[in-house]
Amino acid sequence: MESKGSSQYLPSVVIRCIPKRFLRLFIGALILTCVLVGHLLYRLTVPTYHLPFQPPVLDYTVHDVPVSQYREPAPGELQPFPPTPQLASLADSEPRGRAPWLAAVICPADDAERRMMIRTTWMRLYRDLPMDTRFVVSNPGPEWTEVIRTENRTFGDMIVLDHLPENDITANTVKTLEFYKWLITHNEKYEFVTKMDTDLFLNARAFWSQYLEPRLSNDTGSLKATVDMTMVGQLYYSRPHDLVFPHGSMYTATWDVLETLVTLQQAHKVIAGEDMANALLLMKGHQEINVVNMLGTEKFDFEAADTRGDGSPWARDHTHPNAAQHALVGGGAIAIHQLKDRKMYLKVADCFDEDGIKEMPPPTSQRYQGSSLSLGWHDFWYLFGMTAHYNSQLQNIPSVYWTNHHGDWVCDGIWNLGRQDPRQMGQL
Ligand SMILES: *[C@@H]1O[C@H](CO)[C@@H](O)[C@H](O)[C@H]1NC(C)=O
Ligand SMILES: *[C@@H]1O[C@H](CO)[C@@H](O)[C@H](O)[C@H]1NC(C)=O
Repeated sequence: MESKGSSQYLPSVVIRCIPKRFLRLFIGALILTCVLVGHLLYRLTVPTYHLPFQPPVLDYTVHDVPVSQYREPAPGELQPFPPTPQLASLADSEPRGRAPWLAAVICPADDAERRMMIRTTWMRLYRDLPMDTRFVVSNPGPEWTEVIRTENRTFGDMIVLDHLPENDITANTVKTLEFYKWLITHNEKYEFVTKMDTDLFLNARAFWSQYLEPRLSNDTGSLKATVDMTMVGQLYYSRPHDLVFPHGSMYTATWDVLETLVTLQQAHKVIAGEDMANALLLMKGHQEINVVNMLGTEKFDFEAADTRGDGSPWARDHTHPNAAQHALVGGGAIAIHQLKDRKMYLKVADCFDEDGIKEMPPPTSQRYQGSSLSLGWHDFWYLFGMTAHYNSQLQNIPSVYWTNHHGDWVCDGIWNLGRQDPRQMGQL
């Protein structure tokens, strides 16, 4: 008994005999070594790649929840949403014809505050564009029904998918395809449909003039798309899922893409992260579509650590403007994602006016010293070319996925980027 007891305490006795300072140093060095080895292993291991048109079969996760937990609502579980048109007195005095472009924000029913922020920022600034704006919510449930009704009476911009339950897993899997289906069955046809998340700020002026207007023609007296089977977005490689797809924070599709995806979904019923589902469906249908890829300077995740440290959203002097994430820099920003923080969203919105992005203030006299440990870490490894942190999204796509079909660059057999060599587009 006694010997067992003393042997149990032996490790703690040994630890107590080691000088504290040495112990701290030792533990610190151990942690650092683990992080370094982990970092190097991650950088040096080659992930597995799927074969063309054979996506990996895995239980896709959405915000760490496996999609196998998705279930359809039971019949009668959801109350239909009572139709609630906008009050005539609040509607635009001169109604205009259908716009060629629908900009839709997919959002949770209970996020009325965020919707107001979006309505009062870019939707108001760019309301002269031929763009319809909508918020798409699932069945709001009894608590939120009145709020949504009041909102729609005032603004008339809500689409309610009342056959879908309001939860995270539905929102991030089938909701966008169900929204497309709703547009088709309600005969709400647009030339271009943009889907975006609530934490994205859209410079709709620049998006319209650079991406949509050049792809529309007025030859018939109304604006019609001059491209078909096309998505405008930013290709993103998900290493854990071994898939490439236009990132779900924002992408725009022509009407025929909507129809194709809805038809494929009826046949295959894919439940996966909403943007991944697009890739899986196109692979199952052996369907190639055209992609107009947005640059890292135009569409990026906002990184607060990359700012100047003066409270503004403008970037430090040594930012990486093509990287997948950075702060606001230059005159090219179109879609700024990851603005979950309300204050930061409004600060970013403040950098825009009716014409688009304002001029960037000159660099601050005091150079950014780098208060962010994480950026310090990446800056260090960047010196040796050993971090992917400042890569563009395009650079992150493994080269094995690119093929050239008769002069067109195609990614993973489904995303056709046309003639422009992706290896040059990513490395500006
Ligand atoms: C919201 O208002 C618009 C404009 O009046 C109307 O067309 C639409 O059907 C309404 N939405 C709902 C869910 O009632
Ligand atoms: C398209 O053409 C019609 C008829 O020619 C014209 O009335 C309309 O203003 C034009 N629209 C745009 C956006 O140029």
